[in-house]
Amino acid sequence: MHIVAPSVLAADFTNLADDMTMVNNSAAEWLHVDVMDGRYVPNISFGMPIIKAIKKLCTKTLDVHLMIVEPEKYIEQFREAGADVITVHYEACPHLHRVIQQIKATGAKAGVALNPHTPVSVLEDIIEDLDLVCLMSVNPGFGGQKFIYQTVVKTQKLHNMISERNCTALIEIDGGVGLQNAEVLLKAGARVLVAGSSIFKSTNPTDTISRMKNIGKVAHS
Ligand code: DX5
Ligand code: ZN
Repeated sequence: MHIVAPSVLAADFTNLADDMTMVNNSAAEWLHVDVMDGRYVPNISFGMPIIKAIKKLCTKTLDVHLMIVEPEKYIEQFREAGADVITVHYEACPHLHRVIQQIKATGAKAGVALNPHTPVSVLEDIIEDLDLVCLMSVNPGFGGQKFIYQTVVKTQKLHNMISERNCTALIEIDGGVGLQNAEVLLKAGARVLVAGSSIFKSTNPTDTISRMKNIGKVAHS
């Protein structure tokens, strides 16, 4: 069964408590939390104080996506702020293996994100160490962008790599995900669907989450 992870970037920060109550009472298992530094990506979002506030308000697994350079400087701080899963970008980590071990040493689950142009083959020698691979289906930095369709092919390739090696990494898809493409992604092997705008900007976010959650049942029945 797949996991739905609403992306808090699209929430209403003037009513964060209300949006977190909605998520707490929904079928979503995770909350996706985007950290942007204005260096790795051309946008700045928020850091530890906001994550600490989110942790107090949200009962779900906090899936923290670090779109920052030199993430190794802050891993322990993000863990202390409440991160349950910490994902770093392949492109931002010349010493990726070391950072993954560092994340695991804090007790958090470790993920690696790939930009749309980065092939899944770069993970061949580290896939066994990963709890999660996040395939970016938009160029990171902004919510509300158009889904890049090549991600479906990439998902299938990564799914093949993971099953051939019998490892446990979950495939997460991030960017432009909604009810219109969830099924094709799940069929290709996705296990975590991140969705910002398609959930928080919908008229009934709770209902959108449960529909996204139920798509798998339909897809595999
Ligand atoms: C993009 C972020 C995404 C973003 C997704 O850089 O990593 O997590 O919040 O937003 P939507 O679902 O609106 O594309
Ligand atoms: Zn993200």
